[in-house]
Amino acid sequence: MSGDGTGIDDPAQVRPLDVDALVADPTVGVIVCCGAGGVGKTTTAAALALRAAEAGRSVVVLTIDPARRLAQSLGLEELDNTPRPVVGIDGAAGGRLDAMMLDMKRTFDEVVEAHTTPEKAAQILANPFYLALSSSFAGTQEYMAMEKLGQLRARSDEWDLVVVDTPPSRAALDFLDAPRRLGRFLDGRLVRLLTSPARAGGRASLKVVGAGMAAATAVMGRVLGGDLLRDVQTVVAALDTMFGGFRERAERTYALLQAESTAFLVVATPERDALAEAGVLVDRLRADAMPLAGVVVNRVQPLALPDGGLTDLDLPGDVALAAAGRLRAERPSPTAGLTASLLELHARAMTIAVRHARAVERFVAVHDDVDLALVPTEATDVHDLEGLRLIGDRLGR
Ligand SMILES: Nc1ncnc2c1ncn2[C@@H]1O[C@H](COP(=O)(O)OP(=O)(O)OP(=O)(O)O)[C@@H](O)[C@H]1O
Ligand SMILES: [Mg+2]
Repeated sequence: MSGDGTGIDDPAQVRPLDVDALVADPTVGVIVCCGAGGVGKTTTAAALALRAAEAGRSVVVLTIDPARRLAQSLGLEELDNTPRPVVGIDGAAGGRLDAMMLDMKRTFDEVVEAHTTPEKAAQILANPFYLALSSSFAGTQEYMAMEKLGQLRARSDEWDLVVVDTPPSRAALDFLDAPRRLGRFLDGRLVRLLTSPARAGGRASLKVVGAGMAAATAVMGRVLGGDLLRDVQTVVAALDTMFGGFRERAERTYALLQAESTAFLVVATPERDALAEAGVLVDRLRADAMPLAGVVVNRVQPLALPDGGLTDLDLPGDVALAAAGRLRAERPSPTAGLTASLLELHARAMTIAVRHARAVERFVAVHDDVDLALVPTEATDVHDLEGLRLIGDRLGR
């Protein structure tokens, strides 16, 4: 029965994810928390990072768009793209925790600055197409999150574990696909066509691509406007020489994600559709040889009362509802009314808990080889170290 307080009928059929073993494993250098929008990726990443640090590891957590109060409690007052030490962690085991928020534009700027002369960098940074690309292009956040991960990983003398949050994309697969999509776009035929004169140094357009394409470029220029075309040409040509191709760079990031030292945690809520989407992500990670550690089922309806008194076994929902009905009919007093309301609340919680349990069972039936951690929903939002520690405890059990 649900001795874990989550209401999942038979936790025995759930393969428990050993989160403490995962964060203690010195061969694990990167933990990526991914999943659909709003499921608890940022919370899980921060809670795991804190737990790992308090278990003795040197950890940096890369958060993406954390809620303001969570950011504040991690000591992140401003978006400065630099890891800062988190104050208030228990360092008794010898660990430490740094945290940062991703500034995607700043990360992009730094890549440009690192790869060219200050004059050229300034020119690119002021280019209107570059401004659009670095601050509002679909996929740039995902691309730059991976870029930042690469940078943090390279500083392994400072941190032996990087915990990565992923962007609040609508679809869970976006963080895997967006960098490639952006790479494909920038290295793709349309952009190559647009930029062929610039890529060839402005000389060879007629010779190399032929008169037909030059004519097409001229048409594009009319459609897009000559200035925009020139902006795109300048930026893509410059980035191309800098990066040796966007697609290639995206592929290198992919390889980092496939490393044995990387572990993926898929975060999902305990609803049927959410777990189905998590299942798709699990399958995709496996198909792409990305090491999956397990699935965190977050915000499971808890059943045991805080004092551990009443559990679902003691009072099934239909029994509670019937009792409430009887109370209202037989003893119309304020106290009886209040008791009846509490019984109805309990019944409602039971309905949700049963739905959650069914959703998890359905997931396990299809993915019986995936380890799961069940985290109950807390009464309030998780926005301070104490709250993160609580989530960490739930994860670690
Ligand atoms: N177990 C929990 N109990 C209570 N509140 C939770 C729990 N997990 C997450 N939350 C709250 O849910 C909200 C969403 O969580 P979070 O920001 O971690 O999700 P996310 O997956 O990162 O969202 P996004 O896709 O927008 O980035 C936050 O307000 C957080 O405090
Ligand atoms: Mg988030």
